[in-house]
Amino acid sequence: MKIISISNNKGGVGKTTTTVNVAAAMQILGKKVMVIDMDHQAQTTYHFGINPNEVKESIYDVLKGDKEFTEIIVNRNGIDILPANPEMRNIEFIPLPAKEFLLKEALMDKDKKCLSGYDYVLIDCPPSLGVLTLNAMAISEFILVPLQAQFLPFHGMYNLFEAVQMVKKRINRDIEVTGIIGTMYNPKKSINREVMEETERRLPGKLFNTFIRENVALQEAPSWGKTIFEYKPESNGADDYMALTKEIISRYE
Ligand SMILES: Nc1ncnc2c1ncn2[C@@H]1O[C@H](COP(=O)(O)OP(=O)(O)OP(=O)(O)O)[C@@H](O)[C@H]1O
Ligand SMILES: [Mg+2]
Repeated sequence: MKIISISNNKGGVGKTTTTVNVAAAMQILGKKVMVIDMDHQAQTTYHFGINPNEVKESIYDVLKGDKEFTEIIVNRNGIDILPANPEMRNIEFIPLPAKEFLLKEALMDKDKKCLSGYDYVLIDCPPSLGVLTLNAMAISEFILVPLQAQFLPFHGMYNLFEAVQMVKKRINRDIEVTGIIGTMYNPKKSINREVMEETERRLPGKLFNTFIRENVALQEAPSWGKTIFEYKPESNGADDYMALTKEIISRYE
């Protein structure tokens, strides 16, 4: 069982799109997958066709200790989802100590047996390095960082790498940024190629060979509550996420 956080403190870089569609591709490839929506924007929940405002019991109730995680699972086409709702932004105000370990306490016994039925657990993080992200990082072995190909956002990336080093020291020594995913890639624009070349130069070996190209179908799919494989299986988006997922699996297995 592998636990992977999809994280980048920069907003709108493709974290949620990647979480949902990698999970879907893994499921198609025969893996048993759980997705945890750790973002109070609840976009992952929405993308899977679940209305966050109608989610009565979310991961927030699990973090508070009011529910077992098994009680809030919603299954969508074989994928187990722990949904979010907007209430989650109140996590800052839960009067409990060591709040970065709430998810770990809720999901894991000593031997990680609770999650042993899953091949992969994917966690979508919010665009910040706050308590929700720390909870995700406290249980993850791997971090995947989507990187939008259109900007040179290295400053932000260094913040993320610094934060991961801090997490490694204080919270979870097993954590590693194992992969960077080029998203919204347009091969016709030279800036896109430059960003990816520069990433490879500064962080050798981290970038996956598959880039996720700019693709309208990827943008449309969430409004239909569908993964790209349900919405437009013939699209570039579906091809790219399937190729990326195969790369991810071969990197981790
Ligand atoms: N490859 C792509 N081509 C075109 N549009 C994309 C692509 N990937 C993501 N998008 C769109 O870009 C927007 C941001 O993507 P997404 O929500 O996945 O980013 P995010 O990092 O999760 O954002 P946030 O930080 O707000 O959680 C969405 O509207 C999404 O549909
Ligand atoms: Mg998101």
